[in-house]
Amino acid sequence: MKMKMERVQETRIMLLMGRTWILIMLVGSCASAYAYTRPPPRDILSIPFHRKHGSDPEQVHISLAGENQMRITWITDDDNVPSIVEYGTSPGVYTSSSRGDSDSYSYMLYGSGQIHHVVIGPLEANKIYFYRCGGYGPEYSFKTPPAQFPIVFAIVGDLGQTGWTSTTLKHIQQCNYDVHILPGDLSYADYLQHLWDSFGRLVEPLASERPWMVTEGNHEKELIPFFMHAFTAYNARWLMPFKESGSSSNLYYSFEVAGVHIVMLGSYTDYGEDSDQYRWLQTDLSKVNRRRTPWLIVVFHAPWYNSNTAHQGEGDDMMATMEPLLYAAKVDIVFAGHVHAYERSRRVYMRNVHPCGAVHITIGDGGNHEGLATRFIDPQPQWSVFREASFGHGELRVANATHAHWSWHRNDDDEPVKSDEVWINSLSQSRECIEGSDYSGRKILVSP
Ligand SMILES: [Fe+2]
Repeated sequence: MKMKMERVQETRIMLLMGRTWILIMLVGSCASAYAYTRPPPRDILSIPFHRKHGSDPEQVHISLAGENQMRITWITDDDNVPSIVEYGTSPGVYTSSSRGDSDSYSYMLYGSGQIHHVVIGPLEANKIYFYRCGGYGPEYSFKTPPAQFPIVFAIVGDLGQTGWTSTTLKHIQQCNYDVHILPGDLSYADYLQHLWDSFGRLVEPLASERPWMVTEGNHEKELIPFFMHAFTAYNARWLMPFKESGSSSNLYYSFEVAGVHIVMLGSYTDYGEDSDQYRWLQTDLSKVNRRRTPWLIVVFHAPWYNSNTAHQGEGDDMMATMEPLLYAAKVDIVFAGHVHAYERSRRVYMRNVHPCGAVHITIGDGGNHEGLATRFIDPQPQWSVFREASFGHGELRVANATHAHWSWHRNDDDEPVKSDEVWINSLSQSRECIEGSDYSGRKILVSP
């Protein structure tokens, strides 16, 4: 009897220990799931300056410039350096060369170096090229994007130049991307022009190897009424293929790469129905051939769908004017920055979930010195799927004409942690959206 009682007691103790262990495991796993502590902003970096000679190229970056062509941009102190790029497919063997032009700008007491722009090509797709700038100096190399799917885009806005920026750039470099897309707010120079130079040096290791396609944010404006035009430094330094896409302004343009048509819009230039930008967008969207480019993506700075308390409503006017155009064209994905947090929507149109609307993604979390936008509106709107205030970057892997994989990677303890992901289907394959009753809506895309 006594032994039986002891066995019962032992069993109870074992059960209790087991339950306690399970409880500890549960608490432990919950604790680890919620152990993430949002990091504070990091200081602005001190970016080393190693140039030995005034002819040395610095701040080298490249951008797509029409079909099979690349624009090489760099800066020299010496304004006698020729705007020439020599290039070839073997190191040190330059079988081709192209000439371009150069210019400089003044901003109050600051005088920029000589900014060179040279378009090279035709180039073969998915190939490594070696190049030299100005007939002098070190050799650089880049890889051209593929001509067909799959293609990988790295996407992040509001970069700045802090310790977090350098972490984000490291993660982007690791992701083996083809094209970088930056939805505005690059250097956070904010009138201090030397910070444009340090930003150029910070991003050169990446931006000289892969095309960086950018659009402007509010921090690029740098307007001083009666003294300085808006976007003086941005337009001089980050020349994008606006002429190649029929635009009259560097502040909005489009480009095509590997079956994807990408429209880069300007949140801080006129977008009203009688504006150049609106009319250009009508024309550009009306020419998109979804058989040639099944994917249609739009990028601008101030988000239209934003449930963060920061910058609430700032994109409303542009949205009221331009969202019908994007809807008529059946845009797949819209990327924005400005809000220093991450948010992904369901397909949405006119503030309601809609199967033929675009997926809106806010990715203004590159790492600038202003820090994160940590407060979201409650309750979470129905259109909002995922939102989090952390630094990080996004990767869009367009697998084929129908499927693309989107992932957002949080800079957690300096490691890129995939924190949100989703497969997105292209609307070009949706008979309901392309050939349905809404198709007559395309009339809005034709200028009157
Ligand atoms: Fe911004």
